[in-house]
Amino acid sequence: MHMLNYGSRWTQFSSQTLAVAVSWLSLKHRDNNELFVLQQSAEQQQTLSLLLFTEQIGKTFIVLLGVYQQFAPKMDLIRDVVYRVIVFSIRVYKYLEWLLIEYAEDFVEQHLNKIFKKAGIVLDGPKRYDPKINDKKEFYTRVVSNALLGLGEGYMEKIWDVEDLEEFAYQGLKHDLAKEYLGPVNKITNYMLLQAINLQTQKKSFEVGEQHYNLGNELFECMLDPTMQYSCGYWKDATNLEQAQLAKLNLIGEKLKLKPGMTVLDIGCGWGGLAKYLAENFGVSVVGCTISIEQAKLARERCEGLNVEIVVQDYRDIQEKFDRIVSVGMFEHVGPQNYPTFFEMTNRCLKDDGILLLHTIGVSHNNVPLTEPWFHKYIFRNAVLPYHTDIPKATDGLFILEDWHNMGHDYSLTLREWKKNFENNWEQLSMGKKVDEKFYRMWIYYLTISAACFRARKYQLWQIVMSKNGIEGGYQSVR
Ligand SMILES: C[S@@+](CC[C@H](N)C(=O)[O-])C[C@H]1O[C@@H](n2cnc3c(N)ncnc32)[C@H](O)[C@@H]1O
Repeated sequence: MHMLNYGSRWTQFSSQTLAVAVSWLSLKHRDNNELFVLQQSAEQQQTLSLLLFTEQIGKTFIVLLGVYQQFAPKMDLIRDVVYRVIVFSIRVYKYLEWLLIEYAEDFVEQHLNKIFKKAGIVLDGPKRYDPKINDKKEFYTRVVSNALLGLGEGYMEKIWDVEDLEEFAYQGLKHDLAKEYLGPVNKITNYMLLQAINLQTQKKSFEVGEQHYNLGNELFECMLDPTMQYSCGYWKDATNLEQAQLAKLNLIGEKLKLKPGMTVLDIGCGWGGLAKYLAENFGVSVVGCTISIEQAKLARERCEGLNVEIVVQDYRDIQEKFDRIVSVGMFEHVGPQNYPTFFEMTNRCLKDDGILLLHTIGVSHNNVPLTEPWFHKYIFRNAVLPYHTDIPKATDGLFILEDWHNMGHDYSLTLREWKKNFENNWEQLSMGKKVDEKFYRMWIYYLTISAACFRARKYQLWQIVMSKNGIEGGYQSVR
């Protein structure tokens, strides 16, 4: 629609310009009493051809706009096809690379040993965090051809093992090993696969629900604390997971400056833990949205009898206005190309004197990848961590940043507790017999590597408080 307007404005503009030019030329013609068109001066000829050329560009532009408009409704499909073609080409490339490695094993072994040594890690060495390689050829092949994805898959399939996985990852991260063996080709392919295309369109946003959140409530009930919080706890005064999660919920309530009767929107409400806590302890009414049907089912049960409504909806579809908006652990699914949309939506749905609280993982160093192929494939499809400068860029003109709190280290403590719970409950976990040892090792890898990322301070956890116009009298934050 916008494009059409531009198109017709362009036509108007170019024909008006041409009309002015022709009348100017005619005036000259009358002044000089010369024959117009046949006897133009060099200056007139130049001006006219420049104008004709400009008009030609304008017309081409309009034709292109028309083509774009024809295809605009099919943009999602086109993106999907482009994405699949890229993925296929990368697979072919990877296969060729794999063939090469097959014939240069010794060189690869030396090369990898040199890299791991930089972090004090010795392959098949004696330390708790030295990996034990069960199948050398397979290990080298996977790590060299698929970098972090290969390392993770190798762990899942027991091609390698290690006594202290967190320490292994921590040492590797502290010494920036990922940077070392994420060579330029892997960087480019990761970028092409995970960032160049908008993977978080409205249609695609439900994929992570199917892949991850719909795995079944049984899995998450056995791993999380009784409040069912699937985000970082606040460990300042806490000694166990439940206390840390309750402290986080309370901290959010206080930062939002809630008063009884207020309306709150919780974007990405999970199993309704925050909605329940705020309704019960702050007397507010809450609308929680999630893209997972499984989550919504349990969230509704848990919030029964309270002033809470749970909807299965993409955040882009929310229209009502609220006194407060909060989003915990969901922004990681939004994707950089949609940050403007996210903040426009929150701005539109927040009352003028409202408060927005964003709780998200993020990255502050440009040598830390925002997406990671193993996590993309096995854990959080299409998730991209926000880079710290992206947030002020996307909120520019929409929000005032009132407070920015970093509690990144607390996430390593939270993740360790989830891992303990998962390990302790594994025997009882049936999940409709969908799980096996490979799933167990995948989940352990996910929780442990994530804990190491936060412990090594590569990942941050931010709670950012924003207002539309600045809070009069100033915003007093809470810690
Ligand atoms: C990591 S969980 C956090 C859940 C909850 N806030 C908590 O702290 O326990 C992320 C949540 O975001 C939701 N989500 C992901 N993408 C979404 C989207 N496009 N629109 C709405 N919710 C989304 C998921 O369904 C899930 O509930």
